[in-house]
Amino acid sequence: MICTVDESGVRHLTIESLLVEWMRNSSVSQFTIKLARASDNVWMANMSRRLVETGLPWAWTPGRIARHIAHRDCVVLTAYVQRRGIGFAIMHFGEDAAHLNLLCVDHDRQRKGIGRALIEWLEQSAVVAGTFDVGLEVRANNTTARQFYRTLGYREVGQVAGYYNGTEDAIRMSHDLRRVHLERPRLGEA
Ligand SMILES: CC(C)(COP(=O)(O)OP(=O)(O)OC[C@H]1O[C@@H](n2cnc3c(N)ncnc32)[C@H](O)[C@@H]1OP(=O)(O)O)[C@@H](O)C(=O)NCCC(=O)NCCS
Repeated sequence: MICTVDESGVRHLTIESLLVEWMRNSSVSQFTIKLARASDNVWMANMSRRLVETGLPWAWTPGRIARHIAHRDCVVLTAYVQRRGIGFAIMHFGEDAAHLNLLCVDHDRQRKGIGRALIEWLEQSAVVAGTFDVGLEVRANNTTARQFYRTLGYREVGQVAGYYNGTEDAIRMSHDLRRVHLERPRLGEA
């Protein structure tokens, strides 16, 4: 449960109600963003293996994804076109910061705003929850993703040697949502 406080008292919002409100206010129309269900874990894990973990041991297995879908401090979003899952994002909400664990959009659906839509929804949820710092790691050689995150306002703040299986470096990126929050209308105010 995420809650906000306004002049009239405490207002409780569920993740589902935030999602409905966000979809209503956004220009997204060709795809649907939904909370992941337990049964989404297999295609998500396969997509991660194919698009994110290429050449590395499979870390985001169906079992691990299932645990994140069930975890109370995680939000796992999916993007669907009709009945086909074409992208997803996993974010963990900590006490002081949120961490983007995984983001993936299928090859034939990239550059259509889906990655941006998933991130923007999660960031708005973070702000509503009072969390203004988002961090992530990305493979150093993933220039596409690094460019994507920079476009969305993320800064590269460090490099972690051997982060992936002891063999590949990660770039650590972070996004300060305070400024974004001041510039954008909050959920429910549009
Ligand atoms: C990175 C990824 C999630 C981006 O998702 P996407 O839906 O294609 O991205 P969007 O269409 O929302 O792009 C938003 C903006 O990011 C930038 N961007 C995205 N892909 C880019 C690319 N290949 N080259 C340069 N800029 C890019 C652009 O500015 C783009 O806006 P524009 O299309 O209006 O110019 C997607 O490429 C992907 O899933 N890659 C494989 C998995 C991966 O690397 N995941 C991230 C690591 S966990």
